[in-house]
Amino acid sequence: MYNFSAGPAQLPPEVLMTAKDEFLDWHGCGMSVMEMPFTSDEFNEISTKAYQDLNTLINLPENYHSLFLQGGAYAHFSLLAMNLLGKNPNADYIQTGHWSTRAINEAKRYGHINIAASSEQDGFNHIPAYHQWKLDPNAAYCHITTNETANGVQFQKIPDLDVPLVADVTSDFLTREMDISKFGLLYASAQKNIGPSGLTIVIIRDDLLDQAMDIVPAVFNYSRQAKTRVNTPSTYSVYMAGLMFSWLLKQGGIEKVEQQNSIKVQRLYQAIDNDDFYHCTVNPADRSKANICFELSNPDLSDDFLNDAKENGLLNLKGHGVRGGIRASNYNAMPLEGFDALIDFMQTFSASHAMTSLKKNIA
Ligand SMILES: Cc1ncc(COP(=O)(O)O)c(C=O)c1O
Repeated sequence: MYNFSAGPAQLPPEVLMTAKDEFLDWHGCGMSVMEMPFTSDEFNEISTKAYQDLNTLINLPENYHSLFLQGGAYAHFSLLAMNLLGKNPNADYIQTGHWSTRAINEAKRYGHINIAASSEQDGFNHIPAYHQWKLDPNAAYCHITTNETANGVQFQKIPDLDVPLVADVTSDFLTREMDISKFGLLYASAQKNIGPSGLTIVIIRDDLLDQAMDIVPAVFNYSRQAKTRVNTPSTYSVYMAGLMFSWLLKQGGIEKVEQQNSIKVQRLYQAIDNDDFYHCTVNPADRSKANICFELSNPDLSDDFLNDAKENGLLNLKGHGVRGGIRASNYNAMPLEGFDALIDFMQTFSASHAMTSLKKNIA
């Protein structure tokens, strides 16, 4: 079975096996991780290693903090605005699809939000060219969604801006190398490449830690959380994230998985482009390497495609509700064989339907 879900998504079997083996009794301490006080030495060891491994993986510069918070990226659409718009209410947003639109709608409650560029009129099929962005040089920040999970569009290059760049990296965090120093703040829900949903990673440059509004709840005040642990962390999720980070380090780090991810994705886009039976409407230069969205030329066959795929062990290929069609997610845990199996299936499905329509035409 291969699970192409966009999230919560497939985790590496080795990670799940370790969690299974350690579930009742972590390293002989007589407790499950789920039962440990978060102030215990045992949990402290788990949490410290998780932070260290993450910081190593992303090469975290010294003037940044990484935080393991809760709420999911959707909550942080509001929370980041509350944390960053306390002194200056103006922010730029680049609208590139479903998730950046959600981020804009939430932030609007807390400040003056300028949509500096949008591809909405074109059905979110590309990233607006940088020279067309109408940026406010005095904005508190500019927000982008590096990868639009629902629309299959991705920034291939992270822009260099004069104001702090804030990025929702939920669906491509740890799938490709990112120079953290280009960002003022990054945040990601965990359920794609990190672990259980609910856990949210926030990475913030230290000079942005004093911009919060008074109304921000203490547990979501990035500055307070950077100084000290405010509330009970989502302990089991932090443990799972830690297992994922050490798995990723064992794979050779982000550089290695990025190479693998590129190979998988190139094969799939090639299979789509080489067969008229399928098509991808996203501008080739902006196509996502994490979520490959495409359609069948005859959309009436989409349900048959999805049902047959499931029978062949290819799960969760249905596109996001806002867009429909097919979506194959290419996260770190998806092996090359999964994509090869999908491509084989697509070729067989297309050939069998081409044969059926040929027979109908002859008859
Ligand atoms: C890019 C992006 N941002 C935000 C979210 C929302 O995440 P959550 O539901 O964990 O809050 C998602 C969910 O898939 C996403 O893909």
